[in-house]
Parts: sequence; C-alpha cells; structure tokens
Amino acid sequence: MKIERMTKAHLDSVCEIEQKCFVHPWSPESIEYEFNNSTSLFFVATENNNVIGYIGMSCIIDEGYIFNVAVDENYRCQGVGSALINTLVTYCKKNNFSFLTLEVRESNLKARSLYSKFGFIKVGERKDYYSEPNENAVLMTKYF
Ligand SMILES: CC(C)(COP(=O)(O)OP(=O)(O)OC[C@H]1O[C@@H](n2cnc3c(N)ncnc32)[C@H](O)[C@@H]1OP(=O)(O)O)[C@@H](O)C(=O)NCCC(=O)NCCS
Repeated sequence: MKIERMTKAHLDSVCEIEQKCFVHPWSPESIEYEFNNSTSLFFVATENNNVIGYIGMSCIIDEGYIFNVAVDENYRCQGVGSALINTLVTYCKKNNFSFLTLEVRESNLKARSLYSKFGFIKVGERKDYYSEPNENAVLMTKYF
C-alpha cells in the first residue's frame, strides 16, 4: 500500500469510493471542485496503482478541516485509514498547524476510535446535523 498526493487521474476512483461509502456522498462535481481548490490537500492510498482510499482537507492558514476519509470496504481494518490520517497529521505538524478538525456521525464508533487513536478529542456536537438517519455530529479536534 502506498500513500501519495491525489492527482486528476485519481478523480474517478475517488468519486467511486465516495459513492460506495456514504449515504449522502459528495457529488463528483463537488469533489472535483474541492480538489482543484488551491487551499485543499488530498491524498490517496493505492494498491497496485488502484485507489483503495482517500482523505481530503481544507487548509485555512494554520487550521485544517478534514472533508472526508474513506476506505474501500474490501481493504478496511488493515491500517489504510490510519495511514491516511497519519499523513495529514504529519503534514500539519510539519507546517505548524494549530489544529486539525472534523465532524463525524455519533454512531460511527469505528471512525471515532480511529481519530481518538491519533489524539483527536471531542470538542462539541451539532444536533441533528446528519439525515437518513437523523443523527448528531460529534466535532473532534487534534491540537498541535
Ligand atoms: C473509518 C474508515 C475510514 C477506517 O478505515 P480503516 O482502513 O478500516 O481503518 P484502520 O484499519 O486504520 O483502523 C483504524 C482504527 O479504527 C478502529 N477500528 C477498526 N475496526 C474497528 C471496529 N470494528 N470497531 C471499533 N473500532 C475499530 C481502531 O481504532 C483501529 O485502530 P487499531 O487497528 O490500531 O485498533 C473506514 O471504516 C471507512 O471508510 N468507513 C466508511 C466511511 C466513513 O465512515 N468515514 C469517516 C467519516 S467521518
């Protein structure tokens, strides 16, 4: 498995993973728009040149906002998600970010425990932020 900066050539595969992993996936247009945004930073995990996961964040001066992280179902629980988060955490440390933050469904214990492992702590909640099913968002932040 390799982690690399996302390029245009990865766009279709990233959109496919996004569609498979979320009830309300980002549209291909939104992903492409964010990918082309100069303040965005995207990485992909690849296996034999196939995209098996991705992560993206928005960088606002020294603040990082994770858009999404997703791993192809067939490659989960093998450390791919951890490797993707680790890549962003390392980037933020290197570039003197003050924090990296995200929101996650309250019931998504797997993702929440993954973030905790990297030192993200719960800093708040957004009531009924998600639909289908209706659910609170938990805000988690890692301070550097
Ligand atoms: C969340 C997701 C990205 C994790 O990817 P992954 O490649 O399976 O993650 P890893 O293999 O690196 O596992 C990382 C950690 O998750 C946690 N974890 C894994 N399986 C778990 C389970 N069944 N129950 C609870 N925690 C679990 C552990 O903390 C694990 O760390 P460990 O291996 O050191 O114990 C992946 O499940 C996914 O794409 N889910 C759908 C999309 C999604 O929910 N994204 C997050 C939106 S905020």
